[in-house]
Amino acid sequence: MAIFLGIDVGTSGTKAVLIDETGTVLATALGGHEPSTPQPGYSEQNPEDWWRSTLEAIKNATAKAGISPSRIDAIGPTGQMHGLVALDKEGTPLRPAILWNDQRSAPQCAEYEKTIGRERLIEETGNRLLPGFTAPKLLWMREHEPDLFKNIHTVLLPKDYIRYRFSGAMGMDVSDASGTSVFNCGKRCWSEEILNAMDLPRSWWPDTYESQEVIAQVQESAAKETGIREGVPIVAGAGDQAASAVGMGLVDSSVIGTTLGTSGVVFAACDTWKTTPDGSLHAFCHAVPGKWHLMGVLLSAAGSVKWFRDTIAPDIAEAAELKGGNGYQALDQLAAHTPPGAEGLYFLPYLSGERTPHPDPNARGCWIGLSTRHNRSHMMRAVVEGVTHGLKECLDLIAQTGIDAHAVRISGGGAMSSFWRQLCADTFNVPVRTTTTTEGTAYGAALLAAVGGGAFTSIEDACSNAVREDLTATPGPEHAALQAHHEMYCTLYPTLKSTFTAMAAVNQGDI
Ligand code: XUL
Repeated sequence: MAIFLGIDVGTSGTKAVLIDETGTVLATALGGHEPSTPQPGYSEQNPEDWWRSTLEAIKNATAKAGISPSRIDAIGPTGQMHGLVALDKEGTPLRPAILWNDQRSAPQCAEYEKTIGRERLIEETGNRLLPGFTAPKLLWMREHEPDLFKNIHTVLLPKDYIRYRFSGAMGMDVSDASGTSVFNCGKRCWSEEILNAMDLPRSWWPDTYESQEVIAQVQESAAKETGIREGVPIVAGAGDQAASAVGMGLVDSSVIGTTLGTSGVVFAACDTWKTTPDGSLHAFCHAVPGKWHLMGVLLSAAGSVKWFRDTIAPDIAEAAELKGGNGYQALDQLAAHTPPGAEGLYFLPYLSGERTPHPDPNARGCWIGLSTRHNRSHMMRAVVEGVTHGLKECLDLIAQTGIDAHAVRISGGGAMSSFWRQLCADTFNVPVRTTTTTEGTAYGAALLAAVGGGAFTSIEDACSNAVREDLTATPGPEHAALQAHHEMYCTLYPTLKSTFTAMAAVNQGDI
């Protein structure tokens, strides 16, 4: 039996999934690492911590599956997108990685959107210049850390750094390269034009590949550290959203996907290259050769729920856990006590600024409509509803491009909640379905390894053999009320936009 390993270098830890050649999951395990916020709006992680958590996740997964790591036949990496890993000529990180949810490069984005022109950027790369993306972080480094900037030799993304640690080889796949701001997604190659306009060397950017291509082999030192055999092939892999789509079987536009992870994503695969005129949706290469995807990204989705749990209701979650229960289920029950609309309470989930549908690093989270009647049940319900309304706004943008959601497949930690799945079905007004493997991202990476390792003839073949739908939530009687609240929700950001800008100016450095 051949065994394939998917590794997902996420924001709150690394996940390892082992599958066999039919796509059946043998074991899943985690290794821990934490993000740090050295200043408000900043988000960083040490690449060495990713390697440590990768070793831990592999050890835990193989122990759970009861196999030796030497049985692994191919590796597929995926991970958080956009993170800047700047390496010197020895291949050593020059500084902590600057992550996807870091907002520090907002001034550089504004400046270069003006110099290059927003329309031209969208024509060439498919996307606006957004602070979470990779190249703007280099522009920030050039201004603020010139001594480090001048020593940059190579730029990698998080999962590519992990492949580098496994193999010593540098490379990137096209889906992850799509989120750098300097990649021509339509042509699937680096954009000389945008690199020149930003005065960033072409030599820093590694060769790019399609996701299922074998591009490296495990080297001796990593074989010693992991127990995986030297020479085991490693595929190019994919950014976490494209990998998650593969794990959910989203290889054409017949079904739309939504992922309720730290970030919240609405994902539509496309057979042809298309962009939105104002760049409101990201337009990226898919992990499937010859396909692309449109995507809306909320920066704090399940991340908002985690924040609520950790800061507003830790006692409720901990009490449930002490009794052997699940903290998040206890919070769901809290929310379920409250009717749709949380009796007039709304929550805007902009805890880390926002990307879609409002690309605004100055946007901030808030409850609107608080009264003495409200308690933590209402607040929790409003948090989950706010995130779901944000996802619905993304679905509506996708519908405007001519792609209609007849059904939505859901994955990520939030998809484990039956309350949230039903809320999605009621708010989106379409059936919402899980797949039999709920952790789409690492599973998608394992399927890419299985394709590269020869177990399937293509990614489509892997998905049609291995991905099955599981639970379905169908729209119910709460839809009408939620639709009215959705319309109200949609008016809130436009009303507050100028206030967020003014707040950022007054609180400069504090938020
Ligand atoms: C996608 C994005 C996030 C990160 C972290 O554009 O920024 O999904 O990849 O998961």
